[in-house]
Amino acid sequence: MELAVVILSIKLYSALVNLSLRPNIYEELLAEQQMLIDKYSSATNAITMDVIDQMVLLDAYLKESIRYSPTSTLMPRACVRDIVLSNGVTIKKNQYVGVNIHAYNRTAEAYGTKPSTFDYKRHIRLGTTLLHSEADAAIWGIGTAACPSKLYTIYTMKLIMALVIRNFRVKHKSLLGNHGYVNTNPLNDSIFYDIKSKHELVFQIRN
Ligand code: HEM
Repeated sequence: MELAVVILSIKLYSALVNLSLRPNIYEELLAEQQMLIDKYSSATNAITMDVIDQMVLLDAYLKESIRYSPTSTLMPRACVRDIVLSNGVTIKKNQYVGVNIHAYNRTAEAYGTKPSTFDYKRHIRLGTTLLHSEADAAIWGIGTAACPSKLYTIYTMKLIMALVIRNFRVKHKSLLGNHGYVNTNPLNDSIFYDIKSKHELVFQIRN
């Protein structure tokens, strides 16, 4: 459970860093929040689950952030007996295997054109959401071991990000210079990054 909470905070951290580097996207997400505030918040100021369901851009943004900054190896498994794969490769008993999610997240088959670009609206074009994933179901795992907490996680992440966007402008200190990413995949020199380094974010109070 402790690990799960760490995953949640890492994904939120990635979402904040990715946002801080993209002021244009911040403006789009802020406009969506403003629209929802105008529509719903005058009476109670509450952000209900119904309101969160209408955060379509934020949903796509978080999905793109998770796609763009994935964990290093997804779904690690230990083999309990020798297995011969359909391509002839044998995985020996006691060997470990895992999904190379960095490579998978760059496939055009799953994510459409320019999979190495941060383009959060791709998920709207593809008709998928954080919760409903067809080609990219691996976000939450597959089968019986899939994340039992995905609904809780989605609402929590969207709520926290909505509160941040409504109240603060998030800026990255290195915006004027080095973008601050670390490429953690030395086998591939294309622009596909995981966020591992320290980042200095500035939260400017709105209004
Ligand atoms: C953005 C955040 C999260 C992501 C991307 C995520 C993703 C995943 C993935 C991919 C798996 C499958 C792992 C595997 O098959 O080896 C998994 C399993 C699991 N997750 Fe999450 N998770 C997140 C947050 C959470 C949180 C916050 C909790 C608990 C409060 C949680 C609880 C669990 C548990 C207990 C399992 C193991 C299920 C089993 O083995 O039966 N996850 N998660």
